[in-house]
Amino acid sequence: MGRFSDPQDPLFQALNSSISFDLRLAPFDIEQSLAHARMLTRASIIGEDDLATLERGLEAVRKEIDEDEFEIQPGDEDVHMAVERRLTEIVGPAGGKLHTARSRNDQVATDVALLVRWHAESARELLLRLMAVLADLAGRHADWPLPGYTHLQRAQPVYLSHHLLAHFWRFRRDLRRFEFCVESTSELPLGSGALAGVNFDTDREFLASELGFESVAPNSLDAVSNRDFVLDYLAAASTCATHLSQLGAELVLWSSEEFGFCEVADAFASGSSLMPQKKNPDAAELLRAKAPRVWSSLVRLHGVLHGLPLTYNKDLQEDKEPLFDAIDTLELCLSVAASMLETIAFDRERMAAASADELLAATDVADLLVKRGMPFREAHGVVGGLVRGALDRGKALSELSEQELSELAPQLDGEFYDLLRQGAWLESKVSEGGTSSARVAEQLERARAVLAAG
Ligand code: ARG
Repeated sequence: MGRFSDPQDPLFQALNSSISFDLRLAPFDIEQSLAHARMLTRASIIGEDDLATLERGLEAVRKEIDEDEFEIQPGDEDVHMAVERRLTEIVGPAGGKLHTARSRNDQVATDVALLVRWHAESARELLLRLMAVLADLAGRHADWPLPGYTHLQRAQPVYLSHHLLAHFWRFRRDLRRFEFCVESTSELPLGSGALAGVNFDTDREFLASELGFESVAPNSLDAVSNRDFVLDYLAAASTCATHLSQLGAELVLWSSEEFGFCEVADAFASGSSLMPQKKNPDAAELLRAKAPRVWSSLVRLHGVLHGLPLTYNKDLQEDKEPLFDAIDTLELCLSVAASMLETIAFDRERMAAASADELLAATDVADLLVKRGMPFREAHGVVGGLVRGALDRGKALSELSEQELSELAPQLDGEFYDLLRQGAWLESKVSEGGTSSARVAEQLERARAVLAAG
């Protein structure tokens, strides 16, 4: 009890305790403690015999945690105290030597950095899997046309491969953001002590290399209060969750009776308790809905951190629950998205019928005029008039007679009818990054190179 003569109020304990959620840090805490003990021995701060004792004790604690046999005691405020309490029960007073030259402040910052690095790597792996599924789907639907939309109005036809690869590149940018996040965990906080450094000449370089950090945090005050790497994880996760929600929203729309472009596998759908005919794309709907939950974690942590004076403040304990919730949500959503796409079925006919709408060729008709020297703005007006004329007559563009065509757009001739053959207006998009087959093939090659590089 030391400085205190009265016990803590149970209400205060309920507020202050973090063990109910931070036990999750235990594997990182133990890894860190093993490295710390080795460093203390190398620096002759504790003896070889102490190290052997601490190693034996920490391994025993690790085993209990791994096997779900670790028992939390009423006095265990947080994971650090719980592990040390159990260690000391197992090895006796030598357990108390572990906390030499270390504070819970640099300890918790180090645990959280290790955990964030671990999960940024997991997010990378899950993203790579999802991207591989998208690239594979693109390869298998290379020349399946569907309408591309703006304002959710049919705009220009594209190939399904091109559309799927659009999602691929978004996830690729997420991948980069998680790579940055790994980088932002690369400075070791351990060795900063409570805030000012410790009274021993510790070997922080050794600790950094033992724990996989690239360098030692240069300022102890910053190191114990830095949670930028958590913000970086949450920012990357938020953008990624938004991308997943856009993908989910599209799949919900596409699997509706109205679109009928795809059907998710039974394994990712549910029925209605009332209406026997229904098959609902719940997984896609939940991908759509989870994003705000992930961003809320980012906002919560900004809320906790803003206005905090240096250095450690108990407020920082509030970094964990939002982080853990975002990790669990994102990892689940990434896995579901990949598995759902692996088993989705697209309807070639329905997409082809929707993209056979000739009005989708309007831009190509305008460009026909441009190629004959008409300024684009003027061509846009001529084709607009042509579309209106066709709609007024209740006809498709190709159903207009040559007579009608010459009245509505005298500048057009037989080439107009040739152009309206579907396919020509997909293959006409020859610019780099466009939807023509050759450009999509190029794009798919780039996507595969990204995957091969990992
Ligand atoms: N449970 C605490 C946290 O998560 C550990 C650090 C406690 N440090 C302290 N000075 N009370 O932030």
